[in-house]
Amino acid sequence: MTYAAITGWGKCLPPNVLTNADLATFLDTNDEWITSRTGISERRISHVSLEEMAYVSSMRALAAAGLDPADVELIVVGTCSFDDQVPNQASGLQVRLGAKRAASYDVNTACTSFLYALSTANALIRTGVVRNAVVVGGELISAFMDWHNRGVCVLFGDGCAAVVLEATDKVEGLLGEKLGCDSDARNTLVVEGMGGRYCNKGLPYGQTSWTFEGPEIFKRAVLGMSGACADVLAAQGYKVDDVDVVIPHQANLRIMDAVAKRVGAPADRMFVNVQKYGNMSAATVAVALVEAIEEGRVQPGSLLLLPAFGAGLTWCAHLIRWGQRTTPLGTTDIELPPSDRTALEIVQGYLKKAG
Ligand code: UT7
Repeated sequence: MTYAAITGWGKCLPPNVLTNADLATFLDTNDEWITSRTGISERRISHVSLEEMAYVSSMRALAAAGLDPADVELIVVGTCSFDDQVPNQASGLQVRLGAKRAASYDVNTACTSFLYALSTANALIRTGVVRNAVVVGGELISAFMDWHNRGVCVLFGDGCAAVVLEATDKVEGLLGEKLGCDSDARNTLVVEGMGGRYCNKGLPYGQTSWTFEGPEIFKRAVLGMSGACADVLAAQGYKVDDVDVVIPHQANLRIMDAVAKRVGAPADRMFVNVQKYGNMSAATVAVALVEAIEEGRVQPGSLLLLPAFGAGLTWCAHLIRWGQRTTPLGTTDIELPPSDRTALEIVQGYLKKAG
């Protein structure tokens, strides 16, 4: 039987840091409220396009896998904050990589997009359609943020990460997943301004207003993620004690704690980096996976459980058996171009344009 091993991994975080204190310079908020309600201390604000972040992440992941970009057969980009909707994000990345043989498409299930993208690439490898894939989770959510809304903008940040999948006959990579969508609650998270229904109505594209029912999303996220964890573990014949690291969607530390409690996973088995980046939507699980490897939390043969939720309200949990290698085969010196503005200056630019 064919499996899809994860053989490469790379992340790209924009260097500009927006702290809770920065937010308090233009919003009625404070560090105490943000850290106590969410666990977030700072987030990154990108000075480059999503394509640029995806390019750097993918080149790092390909170097780690020792795979030539010219040999890539599939590129899947998970995101909801496309640079362009037509043509798609993945084809732009394909051009940058020079991956002429690849098929390229995007997946949008909001914050779960990386994991849903992983599901599709894994299935295409396991059924023999392609032999390898680059899967990206990335967002440039700052460009679509309503920076006047303190209930939302303090939660999100920009970032990107990528993995390389390659066919193998060893039992590793994505063993199984549980996917679902609590669509009765789709109106609890709506970004008005992002989509065709707002075009040709005289509104500037990108100027948004967010409907965001935080406590309702919180409740449903905990139920969706913990139910998906129980289902995927049972379907694959594992117990929560078999899991070495839980790498959840990083939206809110309190949500992660509640999921760990319901699932019965000890807090020290959960990987957390929300304090540094906030909720990077599709990039959160991807970046957390890369950092869990870099920090030695993922060991040869580790069993990983990755639960997530996002607008829709989509939810899922993926079970991954890591292979024997936890170090990159190679590295690249490709970097983002330097920024001539601070994170706060970039956000002030958005505020000025939104009026
Ligand atoms: O990936 C999907 C993304 N969605 C999510 O992650 C949302 C999940 N939900 C959450 O993370 C939490 O519900 C929030 C962090 C959004 C909110 O936490 P909460 O404990 O549920 O607070 P709340 O919404 O009940 O708001 C409590 C108070 C309100 O004031 P009043 O009405 O009680 O006087 C808000 O106006 O906190 C106020 N508030 C703020 N105060 C200072 C809301 N945002 C802020 C802020 N700074 N940034």
